[in-house]
Amino acid sequence: MRAARNARETVETAMRIQNLVVDGYERVVRAEDPARGFLGFVAVHDTTLGPALGGLRMWPYAHEREALADVLRLAEAMTWKAAAAGLPLGGGKAVIVADSRNGKTRERLAAMAEVVEMLGGAYITAEDVGINAEDLTLMRAHTSHVTGLPREDGGSGDPAPFTALGVFESIKVCLAEALGNAAIKGRRFAIQGLGNVGTQLARRLVEAGGNVVGADVCAEKAAAAAKALGIAVVDPGEILYEQCDVLAPCALGAVISEKSIPRLRAAVVAGAANNQLAETRDAARLKDRGILYAPDFVINAGGLINIAVEIEPAGYREEEAVRRVTAIAETLGQVLARARETGTTPDRAALALAEERIGQMRAANHA
Ligand code: NAI
Repeated sequence: MRAARNARETVETAMRIQNLVVDGYERVVRAEDPARGFLGFVAVHDTTLGPALGGLRMWPYAHEREALADVLRLAEAMTWKAAAAGLPLGGGKAVIVADSRNGKTRERLAAMAEVVEMLGGAYITAEDVGINAEDLTLMRAHTSHVTGLPREDGGSGDPAPFTALGVFESIKVCLAEALGNAAIKGRRFAIQGLGNVGTQLARRLVEAGGNVVGADVCAEKAAAAAKALGIAVVDPGEILYEQCDVLAPCALGAVISEKSIPRLRAAVVAGAANNQLAETRDAARLKDRGILYAPDFVINAGGLINIAVEIEPAGYREEEAVRRVTAIAETLGQVLARARETGTTPDRAALALAEERIGQMRAANHA
């Protein structure tokens, strides 16, 4: 017993915690434990609406300032995503500086879990690039502030089908807005990235009678999707410029840019990828070209909405998650109506909606 206590104390004192002061953020922590090869950051951007929920990323950043920049950018984006989705959650994110292919040790995951626990629930962690549900189960032994656990552990499981559902429902709203009706049948869809979300989206579109073309830099994934779903596959360099009704970026961020926008041949851009616009001005560039852009942080919130159900007192309920994810369509409808009425971009309108929700809560808290 005594030995165990001592061991625990050793671990705690070995961890070096530094609180960084960053303008606009409630708390930013740099944590390091050289004995366990651990260096990580947690950013809590805003908890006005509730605890900051956001995934944990494991990435081999070349320099720690890149890790810090990433965690800050991602944490802020989570604030807007949760607020736009109407969730009682704030925005946060965590990163571990390591390569998930060969550096994912139990020690590193445990160290990050201890940092999460130290934050006392202000930040709730979840899956992100380089981290899977099994890693979260391991972290759960060190902190209760974890969500997105595997189904067999009572969790919400893979978020991708829910993200795809939200994007699919949103695409119908976009089609009605841009082309006059929501029909999928007979329309053409181009999907960049046939990974977890991209293939699930392709399946839904095909089942609804859509004509789908996709691409993936991983040739095996593209071939597997073509075989399983009967979709056409094109070169990854071409997919953005396919003639189509809807372009769905489901791979990386920053693909919609000053360079790509003039060459797009889609009526609508609506996909799952985070941070699709290279810069804010790209929303106006799309509007100027008459292309309807569905703000990524509004329509890809399905995964977040799903894991948010898991942390409710009643526990995870799939039908409740499906109902709420489907309601993303209503939020998007409000955003598009507001953009139309005010002459602004959907991106700006969505941000305004999120800011208003946070502002109202702040005012209520100070009343
Ligand atoms: P994933 O890693 O399973 O799929 C991404 C796919 O894109 C991979 O197959 C990859 O080979 C491919 N890819 C990368 N660069 C490409 C390029 N230039 N051209 C064509 N294909 C390319 O990831 P997942 O889970 O499907 O997520 C897709 C996007 O959606 C990511 O940006 C992610 O951050 C975002 N997202 C995912 C959520 C989820 O629930 N999984 C939730 C919210 C956002």
